[in-house]
Amino acid sequence: MYHFDIAAGSKAELYRDLLAALDALTADEPDPIANMANAAALVWEYLPDLNWAGFYRNVDGALVLGPFQGKVACIRIAFGEGVCGAAAATLETQLVADVFAFPGHIACDAASRSELVVPIVRDGALIAVLDLDSPAPGRFDAEDAAGCEAIGALLGQRLA
Ligand code: SME
Repeated sequence: MYHFDIAAGSKAELYRDLLAALDALTADEPDPIANMANAAALVWEYLPDLNWAGFYRNVDGALVLGPFQGKVACIRIAFGEGVCGAAAATLETQLVADVFAFPGHIACDAASRSELVVPIVRDGALIAVLDLDSPAPGRFDAEDAAGCEAIGALLGQRLA
């Protein structure tokens, strides 16, 4: 059994501890699916107010559903389509306070109100995106984006 000391204080502490836990979990494991699965479980358990947390992988230039926690989701997303596709096409984090205001947002779960998608890149190439959804409008801020980008940067080294 794993035990993680995840601080429930500031967001900075929360993301610091999440990153350390993910680093320990993935350090000796080369399998990308195993590492995505544990990353999704870790984020899902410790980040509050989520209704979906997981990955879409870059499979031959399209996003294909990877390990996740939450409701059954859309399986394939084209680059440029929806929030995940925008992150894949631009290689830039997408912080969406109101999904209804995002043109082309794909509603996998009708409860979603805000979304954060971080591209995971290695040597300039997209490996996957980390997608977090929340039923709360404006759930994610710049600290969440920075924290998830740090997680994405670590995973860029652990998913290949
Ligand atoms: N809402 C996403 C689709 C993926 S689900 O949220 C799990 C989007 O617009 O890309």
